[in-house]
Amino acid sequence: MPTQLHRVSRRSFGKASVIAGAVAVANSTQAVSDDAPRKRIRTGVIGCGSVSNSYLPSLTNCPFVEVVSLCDIKPDRARRQAEKCRVANHYPNVDAMLQGVPFDFLVNLTDMQEHEGLNRRALEAGKHVWSEKPIANSLAAGQKLLETANAKKLRLWGAPITVVSPQFAFMARQLAAGKLGRVAAAHAHYGHEGPNWSAFFYEKGGGSMPDLAVYNITSLTGLLGPAKRVAAMLSIVTPERTVEDKGRIRVAEEDNAMLLLDHGGGVISHVQSGFNYFNPHGHDGSGEERHTIAIVGSTGYMGLVGYDWAPRGVDLATVQEPKLARHATEAQGYVWQQGAALAAESLATGSKLLVTPEHALHVLEIITAARESAATGRRVEVKSSFAWPIAV
Ligand SMILES: NC(=O)c1ccc[n+]([C@@H]2O[C@H](COP(=O)([O-])OP(=O)(O)OC[C@H]3O[C@@H](n4cnc5c(N)ncnc54)[C@H](O)[C@@H]3O)[C@@H](O)[C@H]2O)c1
Repeated sequence: MPTQLHRVSRRSFGKASVIAGAVAVANSTQAVSDDAPRKRIRTGVIGCGSVSNSYLPSLTNCPFVEVVSLCDIKPDRARRQAEKCRVANHYPNVDAMLQGVPFDFLVNLTDMQEHEGLNRRALEAGKHVWSEKPIANSLAAGQKLLETANAKKLRLWGAPITVVSPQFAFMARQLAAGKLGRVAAAHAHYGHEGPNWSAFFYEKGGGSMPDLAVYNITSLTGLLGPAKRVAAMLSIVTPERTVEDKGRIRVAEEDNAMLLLDHGGGVISHVQSGFNYFNPHGHDGSGEERHTIAIVGSTGYMGLVGYDWAPRGVDLATVQEPKLARHATEAQGYVWQQGAALAAESLATGSKLLVTPEHALHVLEIITAARESAATGRRVEVKSSFAWPIAV
């Protein structure tokens, strides 16, 4: 397993050669002996845009995956990726894909608003599903997807996988060991100047929360426990934008979000995300030096260095050792784009994944609760939960 963090920006990695990316992530899933018989999960990938450039090398190099088909409603994209990644079949829509070469596992990398419907189609057709975020457009619809999956003995997972990183594990262990004393407060932030390639990020059902805050909300609920209630203020800072696929568009969802989460027991956290944040490092996780998650308690402080999707270490100061010291600086094979490969490994071997659909649904409910809070000016109760603490 590589011990170095995969130091490539999400967007520039997307533009980089798939071959180069393949080398970088080739060993990112659990190593297996060359002699061991391997079950490869027949996998179809839908959505061949930017993020597919990061997922496909991870999938095609995973010993538990056989990518048998690709699909995109922009057929040129599916064809190009099929040629680049040597995938035998490609289709121009989900119907053709489902009627085409058989597969067992769908990886959904389409526009955020398309996930729910395509995840449903796949589950109804008997496929396991890995979905980019969000897993659905509402908690109720997401819960129905999970019911369908459970009834058919299928698995359903959703990005992101921040709880899988060794830095998350380190932070969770410090909290469990009581190093921070009585935990009081946390702050997390993630932003940049906004994607410029696709309009869906700014259309109804898009916004900075399901694209960016989703990482911090996953991490903070994973560390501090499920949220009981949410209060939020949201705004649109840039009402019009120019994007590659649709030209000049009106921005319909928030591009500036502030959320307060009450985790119970007096613990309050704050998440901010936005598409108007000057950031000299942009999407480049390797350049980010700031603490993007900070947690403080009566006897300690902990700061996550870099983004939670590409963390670079954890700084810790406690009453016993008050000088800030850096820990957990190795990636240990973790890369943010390996979620679907880890899910395939779980399907093939029964290995346990720390990522759960219940957690993804809880994060989705927090995002929709934040929208309701901003619209009504009220705090909103959160109904869903997930198994916590996470057994890192
Ligand atoms: N780009 C990144 O760096 C990145 C990183 C992490 C997560 N994500 C997430 O990945 C998802 C996709 O983002 P992206 O940046 O790749 O967007 P994109 O616009 O580059 O790609 C989306 C692709 O999905 C295709 N598509 C849309 N609806 C479809 C349908 N019904 N059937 C088949 N194909 C369909 C589009 O034609 C497009 O090619 C989003 O949920 C995003 O939040 C993106």
